Amino acid sequence: MKGVVLAGGLGTRLLPLTKITNKHLLPVYNEPMIYFPLRTLVDAGIREILLVTGGQNAGDFLRLLGNGEAFGLRLLNYAYQAGEGGIADALRLAEPFADGEPICVILGDNIIEKPIGHIVDEVRKKPDGAHIILKEVHDPSRFGVPVFEGGKQTGRITRIEEKPADPQSNFAVIGIYFYDASVFERIKTLVPSGRGELEITDLNNSYLTEGKLTHSLLDGWWTDAGTFESLRAASNLVAESVEALQAAGNTPALK
Ligand code: G1P
Repeated sequence: MKGVVLAGGLGTRLLPLTKITNKHLLPVYNEPMIYFPLRTLVDAGIREILLVTGGQNAGDFLRLLGNGEAFGLRLLNYAYQAGEGGIADALRLAEPFADGEPICVILGDNIIEKPIGHIVDEVRKKPDGAHIILKEVHDPSRFGVPVFEGGKQTGRITRIEEKPADPQSNFAVIGIYFYDASVFERIKTLVPSGRGELEITDLNNSYLTEGKLTHSLLDGWWTDAGTFESLRAASNLVAESVEALQAAGNTPALK
């Protein structure tokens, strides 16, 4: 399985912090934001990774990450997104990289506490389809939200709604997705949403309507970091984790 980190976008919700740099280069406690999704993939055993970015600061990713040596990689692949077409539009650029193999896609501002190697191992066994990860949250209307059969909080998902005003469950679809090789043909069938973007939720729903979407629940904390509030929450959660490791005598090496 190959990995794709999506790190484009304008980061408008973090202006003026993002006026002269890319959101994913901003600090989350003691490291640049982009380190976290990269480490999530590498820790899950994914070694072939593509980073998709765009805008004025794309070169800074190369200067920061090089070939991915700090993550034990021999090579890091890059793709450049011209323009802003949303998450699913950025993912289109990964088609030649994926080259017919399944992919794990992670949004560059998604930070999780615990490794997901066990989920990756399970998904690897699936012949085709897509897989999403859910986490219970207090503010579901900020995210993609699963609607469960019979209005329950568990069981079969009937659809996913993007940022619903009236969420039908307390779960968010987190920004880590697994897709089979059909993903790129599906992206071609998507139409822009009200906010003018090709939505990852529409992509997930295209698998769902064919009965080809499975899901699991995330263990440990998860946050995105695309708003002032969530960026602060991310920094606090990372700081607490680092302090807990240090208290246990395990000092993480800074790269
Ligand atoms: C995106 C997705 C949303 C998902 C979220 C996870 O939202 O559209 O479905 O729940 O990432 O971070 P965005 O960050 O673009 O608002």
